[in-house]
Amino acid sequence: MEDSENDHVMSEIHLGCPPTTIGPFISRFTFSSYPLLLDPSSMIDKDGDLLLPRRRRTKPTGPSSHGHGHGHGSSFTVTIQHSITSTLPDVWKSQLVLSDFVLHNMSLLNGLVCLELGAGTGLLGILLARVAKAVFLTDHGDQILGNCLRNVELNSSLFHPQAIVNVRDLNWMSEWPLQVTHADPKPFCWSFQDFELVKSASFIFAADVIYSDDLTIALFSMLKRLMSLGCDKVLYLGLEKRYNFSLDDLNVVANGYACFRRYIKEDALCDHSDKKSFFVGNRIDLKQIPQYTQGYDRGEDVELWEIRYFMRRLRLHLTFLLSACISEAQECVRLASARNDESANPENFAILRGLLLKLQELISQVPIPEKDEGFTKPGPAPG
Ligand SMILES: C[S@@+](CC[C@H](N)C(=O)[O-])C[C@H]1O[C@@H](n2cnc3c(N)ncnc32)[C@H](O)[C@@H]1O
Repeated sequence: MEDSENDHVMSEIHLGCPPTTIGPFISRFTFSSYPLLLDPSSMIDKDGDLLLPRRRRTKPTGPSSHGHGHGHGSSFTVTIQHSITSTLPDVWKSQLVLSDFVLHNMSLLNGLVCLELGAGTGLLGILLARVAKAVFLTDHGDQILGNCLRNVELNSSLFHPQAIVNVRDLNWMSEWPLQVTHADPKPFCWSFQDFELVKSASFIFAADVIYSDDLTIALFSMLKRLMSLGCDKVLYLGLEKRYNFSLDDLNVVANGYACFRRYIKEDALCDHSDKKSFFVGNRIDLKQIPQYTQGYDRGEDVELWEIRYFMRRLRLHLTFLLSACISEAQECVRLASARNDESANPENFAILRGLLLKLQELISQVPIPEKDEGFTKPGPAPG
């Protein structure tokens, strides 16, 4: 079937674009340094008096106080090139809600490494770069990433002066870590330094990436690998339930949402003695997150989740493995010192080789039943 203009799925945020717009389009989003709007029901205190949002008295630790870029002290403007057709990404409502969340919690992100998945236009990553030490804006495909890079360049004056901002290709359907090629590097490819930085990332963000079962499965498979890596990471996920009639269900369903919920145990209901690895999620009350930009209505179908990944069994095994490796290494060092060999003595290599073989043997004994938990070859079935 040929694409007609009516078939394009557009973000509500840009339905105001001129109807004839088919190519790239520039929008400007002005963000305030202090909350603009709170949900009316949360603006009443316990005595029934109206609570008005006020400018913060204390100097904010966030970037809003930097005053660099196109800001005028109390506000700043982000310029975004996007498209209302399907050739380039658009800005979606849950991205703006996640942006409000980030702006409301800027001081927590100061100096940290952040990773965004399915970044699209890059609006959220651009906000993160105002305070973070390093931001990776990731998506898949040269055209989308090229547009994202253009937006990063358009807004670089807003960033923290020392921020490292990288646009990188990360397809959720691919392996992780990706192959790093030194010869003929592709645009948006990863370097070893990037991998090291991602290991130290504390936060992952993703907006409007839950809209089909296949992509949700791929996304969570990638999240398991990313969240098992390096330091503990917290994911903030914004989504908008988009309802469609499904022939399979003979009902109106939000595509991908039920699949997403199957991955998440809600914190309050969660049995932490569970032996399997699992994601635990808390749904954030949006009434507690004021708006920092005008001109969009959150509606009823946007949700924001805080998600952690628990790798209980895997961690226990790794701890065991590590202690075993350490005592093996100590034993080898003890043997080598007892012999008091010259460093060129070939027997030293034999000891080293013995150590490596032992390590290999121990590693192969670790039962990691799921591929996306990072196994390289299957171990024996867990007892
Ligand atoms: C609905 S858009 C949301 C864009 C942006 N986060 C926002 O909220 O405005 C979904 C994004 O997911 C990206 N995406 C879809 N499949 C992907 C995959 N397999 N790997 C990486 N990104 C993917 C798309 O390119 C697109 O940018």
